[in-house]
Amino acid sequence: MTSGGDAPGMNAAIRAVVRTCAYHNVECVGIFRGYEGMIEGDFKILTARSVNNIINKGGTFLKSARSKEFRTKEGRQKACLQLKSVGIDAVVLIGGDGTFTGGMMFNEEFNFPLIGIPGTIDNDIYGTNFTLGYDTALNTVVEVIDKIRDTASSHKRLFFVEVMGRDVGHIALNAGVGAGAEEILIPEEDLGLERLLESLRRSKQSGKSSSIVVVAEGDKIGKNVFELKDYVEENLEEYEVRVSVLGHMQRGGSPSCFDRVLASRMGVKAVESLLEGKSNYMVGILDNKMALTPLDKAVKGHTEINKELLRVSDIMTT
Ligand code: F6P
Repeated sequence: MTSGGDAPGMNAAIRAVVRTCAYHNVECVGIFRGYEGMIEGDFKILTARSVNNIINKGGTFLKSARSKEFRTKEGRQKACLQLKSVGIDAVVLIGGDGTFTGGMMFNEEFNFPLIGIPGTIDNDIYGTNFTLGYDTALNTVVEVIDKIRDTASSHKRLFFVEVMGRDVGHIALNAGVGAGAEEILIPEEDLGLERLLESLRRSKQSGKSSSIVVVAEGDKIGKNVFELKDYVEENLEEYEVRVSVLGHMQRGGSPSCFDRVLASRMGVKAVESLLEGKSNYMVGILDNKMALTPLDKAVKGHTEINKELLRVSDIMTT
């Protein structure tokens, strides 16, 4: 089952789960539309051939949803009855922290075996160095900023580029360094408006004619990208500013090789962990090895921003 916001690599993970089941002679059933489909019994048997030609596809062919009903005890009760009525006895959940929180409650109430696979572009899940979709999203963002740079430099403009990431700045920080951004605004580090102006002033004085500032959607500088544009234009007359909000394009597209390989490894590990009798864990990758983290830790834990990258970014803007 895939649930919550989709992410590139989800299809590759579904394929890996289905084929690992086939390899071990376990029957596999796809649950459509996340917890909504679990409650309604929207199931279909999947064989190794059902997942041909999807490793390269963005989105999720099982579809995804955010279910209100599953947040209620009655909803979860219905879901449990549906699963039992067709003989499903374990579930692989592919999603983010909302998906795992629902799964944990379900496991607590009905002792239903489950394993999570982290699928979200935000990379905000504890217990894994990388979530599925994050690498692809980074590549998408860098590719788009490269294009924005062409027009920014032709017109000698400053661009504020807003990227996704919900409450964390991993996409902004990594894509910002990868795209050579002048400044990167993330929720984990409050640069402050004064220092932003100072940095832009210095940049102009050093001879740069155009600049890209990457802004994480959850940034806490106190102004959104459009207000930042006005603020900079009011305080630094030498700047002509434009804004680009990248939005949901960051969630789409064919998964990168990294995400496909990660999805394949996670799918195998998820199914084989269930077969070993493990439950209520999330599969992750830590130091390039597959690792299991209890779901409650994965949900409650915090991911740390890479401080070294912040310093690299500062040095690069010299
Ligand atoms: O969690 C993935 C994500 O794309 C976040 O980066 C973003 O804040 C959110 O989902 C957007 O959610 P929705 O698709 O419901 O607008």
